[in-house]
Amino acid sequence: MTAYGLELDSIVFAYPDGERKTTASPSGDRLAGGGADTQSPPVLDGASLGVAPGAKVGILGANGSGKSTLLGIIAGLHEPRAGTVRVGDILVAKKTLKAARLRLGFVFQDPDDQLFTGSVYDDVAFGPRNAGLSDAEVRERVESALATVGIPELAERPPFRLSGGEKRMAAIATVLSMDPGILVLDEPSAALDPKARRRLIRLLSGLPQTVVIATHDLDLALDVCGRAAILHAGRVEAYGDSRAVLGDAALLERCGLEPPLSSGSCAICGRRP
Ligand SMILES: Nc1ncnc2c1ncn2[C@@H]1O[C@H](COP(=O)(O)OP(=O)(O)OP(=O)(O)O)[C@@H](O)[C@H]1O
Ligand SMILES: [Mg+2]
Repeated sequence: MTAYGLELDSIVFAYPDGERKTTASPSGDRLAGGGADTQSPPVLDGASLGVAPGAKVGILGANGSGKSTLLGIIAGLHEPRAGTVRVGDILVAKKTLKAARLRLGFVFQDPDDQLFTGSVYDDVAFGPRNAGLSDAEVRERVESALATVGIPELAERPPFRLSGGEKRMAAIATVLSMDPGILVLDEPSAALDPKARRRLIRLLSGLPQTVVIATHDLDLALDVCGRAAILHAGRVEAYGDSRAVLGDAALLERCGLEPPLSSGSCAICGRRP
């Protein structure tokens, strides 16, 4: 496994649906100008972000600020209208998209989008089998991925019968079995109970890969990510050491975020943790 770096430079992106919606609107100045580029404000409008190999970065921002969209661009699911994406030394373009995608593992917000066969084993084996690995290699990849996420005993279970926390770990295993250098996760702690969330934090903190996490769980971002980026108004409004970014109350308020619980003072003794 090689942990690759990432470089997003001045990314501009708008959804075609959004453009259609705006075009159909009977009112609004945004209709002026004619061309598609002028009809809809882009979700991302000059977003830049550099992630060093092996770094763990939290992507934060209010609802609708473009976190999932940015992850989709990193993962090659959306093509930016302008700007460039580099995955390691690969400049992402039509010709290089396949090679870039092989370096990345994308974990969807909803594990049900990732788990679709009759057993956890088959789901985790899906990628390696598709890549043409031998049965022995596939078994090795699956066993290693399930051991890493701590659910080897669930291999033969149907995914739809797993708990939310177990599904999350199985979904991460489906990506780890492809041995990606970069892991991209969208809201990985959503709907997890405290114990499952703790287990997830331990897992993510210990992974050797470059990890990019979009999350509203600012405490998870503090625990797992050395750096945090805040998306606001289509740009990366702030990017730096997680403690510094998440400790900046004025910045958080400006970007529609609340300070993480762990950064507050103790209600009893007044000390900060
Ligand atoms: N498929 C789509 N078609 C049109 N507009 C979309 C689509 N997906 C997202 N959007 C819009 O793009 C903007 C950014 O959405 P995105 O899902 O990236 O935000 P987010 O930061 O991930 O939000 P959340 O915190 O709610 O997950 C929103 O205004 C949303 O309505
Ligand atoms: Mg989202």
